[in-house]
Amino acid sequence: MTVKRETTTTVTAPRKDGDTPIVVVDDVRHSFGSGPRAVHALRGVSFDIRRGELVALRGRSGSGKTTLLNLVGGLDSPTGGRITLDGTDLAALDEPGLLALRRDRIGFVFQSFGLIPVLTAVENVGVPMRLRRIPAKEREERARTLLALVGLADHAEQRPGELSGGQQQRVAVARALANDPDLIIADEPTGQLDLETGRSIMELLRAVVRSKAVTILVATHDPNLIELADRVVELRDGRIITPGDA
Ligand SMILES: Nc1ncnc2c1ncn2[C@@H]1O[C@H](COP(=O)(O)OP(=O)(O)OP(=O)(O)O)[C@@H](O)[C@H]1O
Ligand SMILES: [Mg+2]
Repeated sequence: MTVKRETTTTVTAPRKDGDTPIVVVDDVRHSFGSGPRAVHALRGVSFDIRRGELVALRGRSGSGKTTLLNLVGGLDSPTGGRITLDGTDLAALDEPGLLALRRDRIGFVFQSFGLIPVLTAVENVGVPMRLRRIPAKEREERARTLLALVGLADHAEQRPGELSGGQQQRVAVARALANDPDLIIADEPTGQLDLETGRSIMELLRAVVRSKAVTILVATHDPNLIELADRVVELRDGRIITPGDA
């Protein structure tokens, strides 16, 4: 048996200690391609996210934000360094393990909403629960509760094409919450919205962090969003330049 955290890999019990970071990013590097044409998108990035924090990831286009979110979300594996989520080293998980982690512990929100056009709002919110084989009745009840939480109780039967951009993003936030995740990863969630609507989405995320004890990592250029964050991590050319508190 070992006590070194570096070598504890697969089965780690959830930690009770509120101060233990939920996400640890340790000297993460990531390159696309190899040889002289390789793009070094991340060049040694380290930071922690504490439970219940809303962290904004800022940086100009091409600085590595999406790359980093994809790695933290287990959508891709880093070329170097290590990422742990709630004490689990992502590198120790196989594909089914990563799939289960993404399904059960992480909620994703994207700039382009990513809703399924033929499904109603309540059906879209139910999709992650379907993947977990939650029975239809329970799924629908929970989806309706979540839609009410994001202010869309009266729009449950509308399809994405019948909703405004801001409403679609609210549905996406409700969907991200469907499986009661520990972490929400959002990539420029206000990027396609006007200032006012973007602000309301950001306030929604802020409220979600408060009421649901969720942690959020959000990439953004939006000053409104940055203002509401607990902390800002700034990337420049694949490195962190301001790890300090906002
Ligand atoms: N699949 C890929 N293949 C090759 N290079 C890639 C790939 N994905 C990203 N890159 C490169 O990695 C670097 C970081 O890209 P990334 O998408 O992480 O930036 P970003 O900060 O999210 O930018 P934006 O604000 O425009 O979304 C860029 O130079 C980009 O061209
Ligand atoms: Mg991006």
